Amino acid sequence: MLVLGIETSCDETGVAAYSSDHGLLAHALHSQVAMHGAYGGVVPELASRDHIRRVVPLIETVLREAGRELADVDGIAYTQGPGLAGALLVGASTANALGFALGKPAIGVHHLEGHLLSPLLTDPKPAFPFVALLVSGGHTQFYAVRGVGDYTLLGETLDDAAGEAFDKTAKLLGLPYPGGPSLAKLAERGRRGAVALPRPMKDSGDLNLSFSGLKTAVLTLVRREPPTEQRSADIAREFEDAVVDVLVAKSLAALDATGLARLVVAGGVGANRTLRERLRAATSARGAEVFYPELQFCTDNGAMIALVGALRLQQGAASDYTFTVLPRWDLASAGAPISAGPLG
Ligand code: KG4
Ligand code: ZN
Repeated sequence: MLVLGIETSCDETGVAAYSSDHGLLAHALHSQVAMHGAYGGVVPELASRDHIRRVVPLIETVLREAGRELADVDGIAYTQGPGLAGALLVGASTANALGFALGKPAIGVHHLEGHLLSPLLTDPKPAFPFVALLVSGGHTQFYAVRGVGDYTLLGETLDDAAGEAFDKTAKLLGLPYPGGPSLAKLAERGRRGAVALPRPMKDSGDLNLSFSGLKTAVLTLVRREPPTEQRSADIAREFEDAVVDVLVAKSLAALDATGLARLVVAGGVGANRTLRERLRAATSARGAEVFYPELQFCTDNGAMIALVGALRLQQGAASDYTFTVLPRWDLASAGAPISAGPLG
């Protein structure tokens, strides 16, 4: 089964061709980072217009690289939500138009399900069940994942997502958008322990998290005294350590709470090197395993959407080419296997 995946939920247009027999055949991505950089964040209207420009050429590129034709496609998966409504509509309408023209199903996929299952794109794949830590710009959540479509929310951030905290803190330090990677880079030059920041909710006894206080603590530091270059790096070092300390502690707590020994880390912040190294050490110390998607599949991409589309089609998902996008959409409610209808 050959599935095209289309991701347009935010600021990257991602397209991929995934074969249920041969795995990922080809994928391509156009990032809008440079375009939005001038504004310090994503401008939704510009994002939608750019997706419109990119999506069809990217489909052509991916099919060519995969050595396949449109006629070979068995289904088209698209990100149905959550995300920016206008941006989502580009992928949804493209997928449904293409599906209708080809007489093949167009399958709406939950963006977070894509992130959650993205480690299945490459070997060694984690076996079910596992605990998933989803850390992106919009979400920081723990799930117990018992199979495709079987997701139980264990805990989540009560305010900012970890990626959002990285982005806002980076802005306070005058770093370019997107803040996560630039803050992580600056932190490499920071001295450990030169600045002290809190570890919010680290010992709260549940699996919830909170990151907005960290950003406020950095704001207070920066207001008190405009930081020199070295002090900015020290703050970045301590900020990253604080976020990682909390994420590592809560990840171990999630493994304890579920009795599971496999942890999957997905979403943009999963690209953070310090987080990866610390989690690898902490899990192996207790005989557990941690799985990451390849770096290129940590951030938004079409491959994870094509993969979920293929799994859902194998479960019998169908479509009638009527569609709606879901800018806010709870993953646990999207978990049930899809049979038919506009949400399928
Ligand atoms: O999953 P993603 O690409 O988009 C969302 O669905 O949100 O995640 C983007 C987020 C941004 O907040 C970005 O700053 C953060 O992931 N990010 C990082 C790193 N790379 C991306 N945060 C920390 N360290 C990184 N290396
Ligand atoms: Zn994402």
